Amino acid sequence: MRIYQEADYEAMSRRAANLISAEVIRRPDCVLGLATGSTPIGTYKQLTVWNQRGDFSFKEVRTVNLDEYKGLPPTHDQSYRYFMQTNFFDHIDIDVANTYVPDGLAADPDAECARYDELVRSLGYADLQLLGLGRNGHIGFNEPCGSYVKETHVVDLTQSTIDANARFFASADDVPRQALTMGIGCIMAARRVLLIASGADKADAVYNAFCGPITPACPASILQLHNDMVLVGDKAALSKLVAAGVAVCG
Ligand code: GLP
Repeated sequence: MRIYQEADYEAMSRRAANLISAEVIRRPDCVLGLATGSTPIGTYKQLTVWNQRGDFSFKEVRTVNLDEYKGLPPTHDQSYRYFMQTNFFDHIDIDVANTYVPDGLAADPDAECARYDELVRSLGYADLQLLGLGRNGHIGFNEPCGSYVKETHVVDLTQSTIDANARFFASADDVPRQALTMGIGCIMAARRVLLIASGADKADAVYNAFCGPITPACPASILQLHNDMVLVGDKAALSKLVAAGVAVCG
């Protein structure tokens, strides 16, 4: 595992964008696994600048997103499809037909999960999977629980996630209670995983994920078993790892 410690959010975003652009330059038709949340916004902004400048193209890139709220239409300003369009896809030269997000409005959510799993499999899984990290250690919407779920599935969001994401909605009551999320199997099948974390409120989750026991009670801890895992964090997010003596670059 390689860990990059960056000074702040901006430097973290730039480093992550560097690693993603390297993948796109090396393999122009790569499959990128993408994430939502506030953490990757700076990464998407930086990639957009470089793409608009003509440094590289997303024309042949395919993307698979981790998750979507159940019940939100793509036009809802808190849906993850809307997030991806407004924060990234609308500003780069990607073919939107090659971008995939689970359908939160599917009449049969379980069938949609099975379809999505098959889609990701048929694309050969992600060459690079970008991940954020929930304060409770969740990745995608794989919440802390008793056992890992391998496949894309419908999940009940924990109160901690509802509270954390309430800031994006008018009130906590408006946060959907369920989501469709890629399972741990698809995430671990990615050839490279790039997890980004920023801010002191992620320090415990980062420490538990990478220094604690491997347990579904901290879903991200399974990433310790991935053979090409890159963690990029700012000083605040990595503070507990560094204090524990874990070696970092930068
Ligand atoms: C959501 C997403 C996750 C994301 C997490 C952290 O719950 N499903 O993919 O990593 O939030 O979000 P933030 O980056 O805003 O802290």
